[in-house]
Amino acid sequence: MSTQRKMLIIDTDGGIDDAHAIFMMLDSTVYDVIALTCVRGNSGVEQVVCNVLKILGAANKLNIPVYSGCAFSIRGQNTTPKSYHGEDGLGDCPSVEEPDVSVLQSETATDAIIRLTKELPGEITLMCIGPLTNLATALKMDPDFGSRLRDCFIMGGNYYGKGNITVSAEFNFHSDPEAASIVLEQLGCPTTLVGLEVCLKNGLTWDQYRELRRFPGKRNQFLEAIERNPVAFSIEEGWNFSPPDAVLAACMSSPPEVVMETKHVYATVELDGKFTYGQMVVDWNNVLKKNPNLTIVTKIDKNAFYTVLINTAKSDI
Ligand code: RIB
Repeated sequence: MSTQRKMLIIDTDGGIDDAHAIFMMLDSTVYDVIALTCVRGNSGVEQVVCNVLKILGAANKLNIPVYSGCAFSIRGQNTTPKSYHGEDGLGDCPSVEEPDVSVLQSETATDAIIRLTKELPGEITLMCIGPLTNLATALKMDPDFGSRLRDCFIMGGNYYGKGNITVSAEFNFHSDPEAASIVLEQLGCPTTLVGLEVCLKNGLTWDQYRELRRFPGKRNQFLEAIERNPVAFSIEEGWNFSPPDAVLAACMSSPPEVVMETKHVYATVELDGKFTYGQMVVDWNNVLKKNPNLTIVTKIDKNAFYTVLINTAKSDI
C-alpha cells in the first residue's frame, strides 16, 4: 500500500457543512490540502472568500492559499437564494471575527487550478463542495485540465429526482446547471459523486449531534456557533442533522471505510425542463448507450460515518 500523501484542492462555496468538511480534510491522514478555491453558491463569492478565511482561521491554517473564483454562473446569474446557511452563508454568527482578506491570493481560482495541475500533472485530487462553475470555466479555458487531475470528488446532484432547492434539483447543481453538465460531460478524470439522497438518508439524531459537539476544541466551538441558527431551525422542522459536504469528506477518509456501495454509470444534467432544470439524470438502465462518466456513492455505513465525525471532533482537543 502506498504511504505517499495525496495533494488536494478544495473548491468551496464556504457554507456551514463546507466548514465541517474542510476541517475533516485538514485532519486527513491521506490528503494534504494545498489550496482552497472559492465559488459563488451559499453566498456571493466575496462573502464566500470571507467565510473560507474564517474557517481556516478557526483551524489555524491561514498558511494555505485561498483563491477567489467565479461570481456568476455560466448563464450569468449572481443571485444566491435565502437558505439554511443564513444571510452570510455561514450561519449569521456574530461571535465569529471578520478575517483579514489581504491574505487572499491575487491569482484567480481558475488560473490557479489550471496552473497547479500543470505543475503537478496526475497528482492533484479535486474536492468540489459548491456549484461547479470554477471547474467548468477552467475546462472552457483549458479543455485538457481535467486529464491532468488524479481524480475528482463532488458533492452535488441527486438520483431520485428529489430536490432541496426546487422540487427536483439539488442546490449545488441547480446553482449552475450548465457548469454541472460541462463537468460531467468533459472532465475526463475518475470522478466520484455523493448525491443528496445518500446524505439525507444518513443524517444524525440530535443526541448524536450533541455528543459530537461536546468536545471543547476551537474548531468544534466554531462549528457549534455557526450551526446554532440552522440547528434550531432543523429541529423545528423535524429534520435530522445532515451535513452533505461532511458526508463527501467522510467518504474520502478511511479507515474506517464509509463507502459501502457505488454504481458506475453515465449521468448528465437536465438543462431544459420546466420543473427539472438542474436535476441530475442517471442512465441507470444504459438506455443512451454512453460510456460511464461517474461513480455514484449509493450506500454508506452510517456508523462508520459517525465514527469519522467523532474522530475529527476529538482530534481538536
Ligand atoms: O445540497 C447540499 C449542498 O448545498 C451542500 O454543498 C451545501 O453546502 C448546500 O448549500
